[in-house]
Amino acid sequence: MTNVSKEKFKIYKNVFDEFTLQTLFKLSVQEHFDELLSPVKIGKESNIFLAETKSEDFVIVKIYRLQSCNFNKMYSYIKSDPRFMNLKNQRRQVIFKWVQREFRNLLTSREKVSVPTPIAFANNVIVMESIGGNIPAPQLKDAVPTDMKAFSDKLFICMKDLCSLGLVHADLSEFNILNYNERPYFIDFSQSTSVKDGNALEYLKRDLHNIDHFFQKKGFKIDSERWLSEMKKEIIKYH
Ligand SMILES: Nc1ncnc2c1ncn2[C@@H]1O[C@H](COP(=O)(O)OP(=O)(O)OP(=O)(O)O)[C@@H](O)[C@H]1O
Ligand SMILES: [Mg+2]
Repeated sequence: MTNVSKEKFKIYKNVFDEFTLQTLFKLSVQEHFDELLSPVKIGKESNIFLAETKSEDFVIVKIYRLQSCNFNKMYSYIKSDPRFMNLKNQRRQVIFKWVQREFRNLLTSREKVSVPTPIAFANNVIVMESIGGNIPAPQLKDAVPTDMKAFSDKLFICMKDLCSLGLVHADLSEFNILNYNERPYFIDFSQSTSVKDGNALEYLKRDLHNIDHFFQKKGFKIDSERWLSEMKKEIIKYH
């Protein structure tokens, strides 16, 4: 690790602990990004930065805060996912698995659904494509579609395709959908679980309720009953 790359992260020493800074150095030395450009959002569990690579691509670096993460909530969401069985309720282990799960879910989802391409992960940090490049695309809540029917049709297909890949998003709402050129992109996949998770149907219903509620507020009606029955057909194939 060169001193030059270490220098780049010095300014964050009051924001992140030493372990996280080391993880950022490591990912940067592996050339997944060059330096952090600007904060995009400080979330409940994570800080999200825009960063640039040496080849001038823009990426999102999502950094879970080791000290202030609600890992008990994370644990309650991950323990019923059959892909992550036998996980102990220990802070760091849960956070690292949470990051791995986000990476894995993005990899699976991108086969059919528009999501950020996952690039790398290490410990509590995940790097992914920035939707919108140097100007990250807005959340659906801030960028209401010009054509509600067309957008909701695309959304339905994304949700159904996700189920057909064996996944339920489980944290879907106008906050975790980006509207990029009138196309929905799903983000924030750490909570997404296998359709074989005992809670999958309950999560799917909650996702649908959020979407239904969003469109209702905007004066547009979606056929959520039909959506649910179509998605159930996909889920049943896994049982
Ligand atoms: N790949 C991406 N491309 C563009 N913008 C993104 C991307 N990932 C995240 N963002 C922006 O950062 C915001 C927060 O990201 P995200 O939803 O993943 O984190 P969060 O809600 O803080 O997560 P958590 O609930 O796990 O703490 C998003 O709403 C979006 O505006
Ligand atoms: Mg989010």
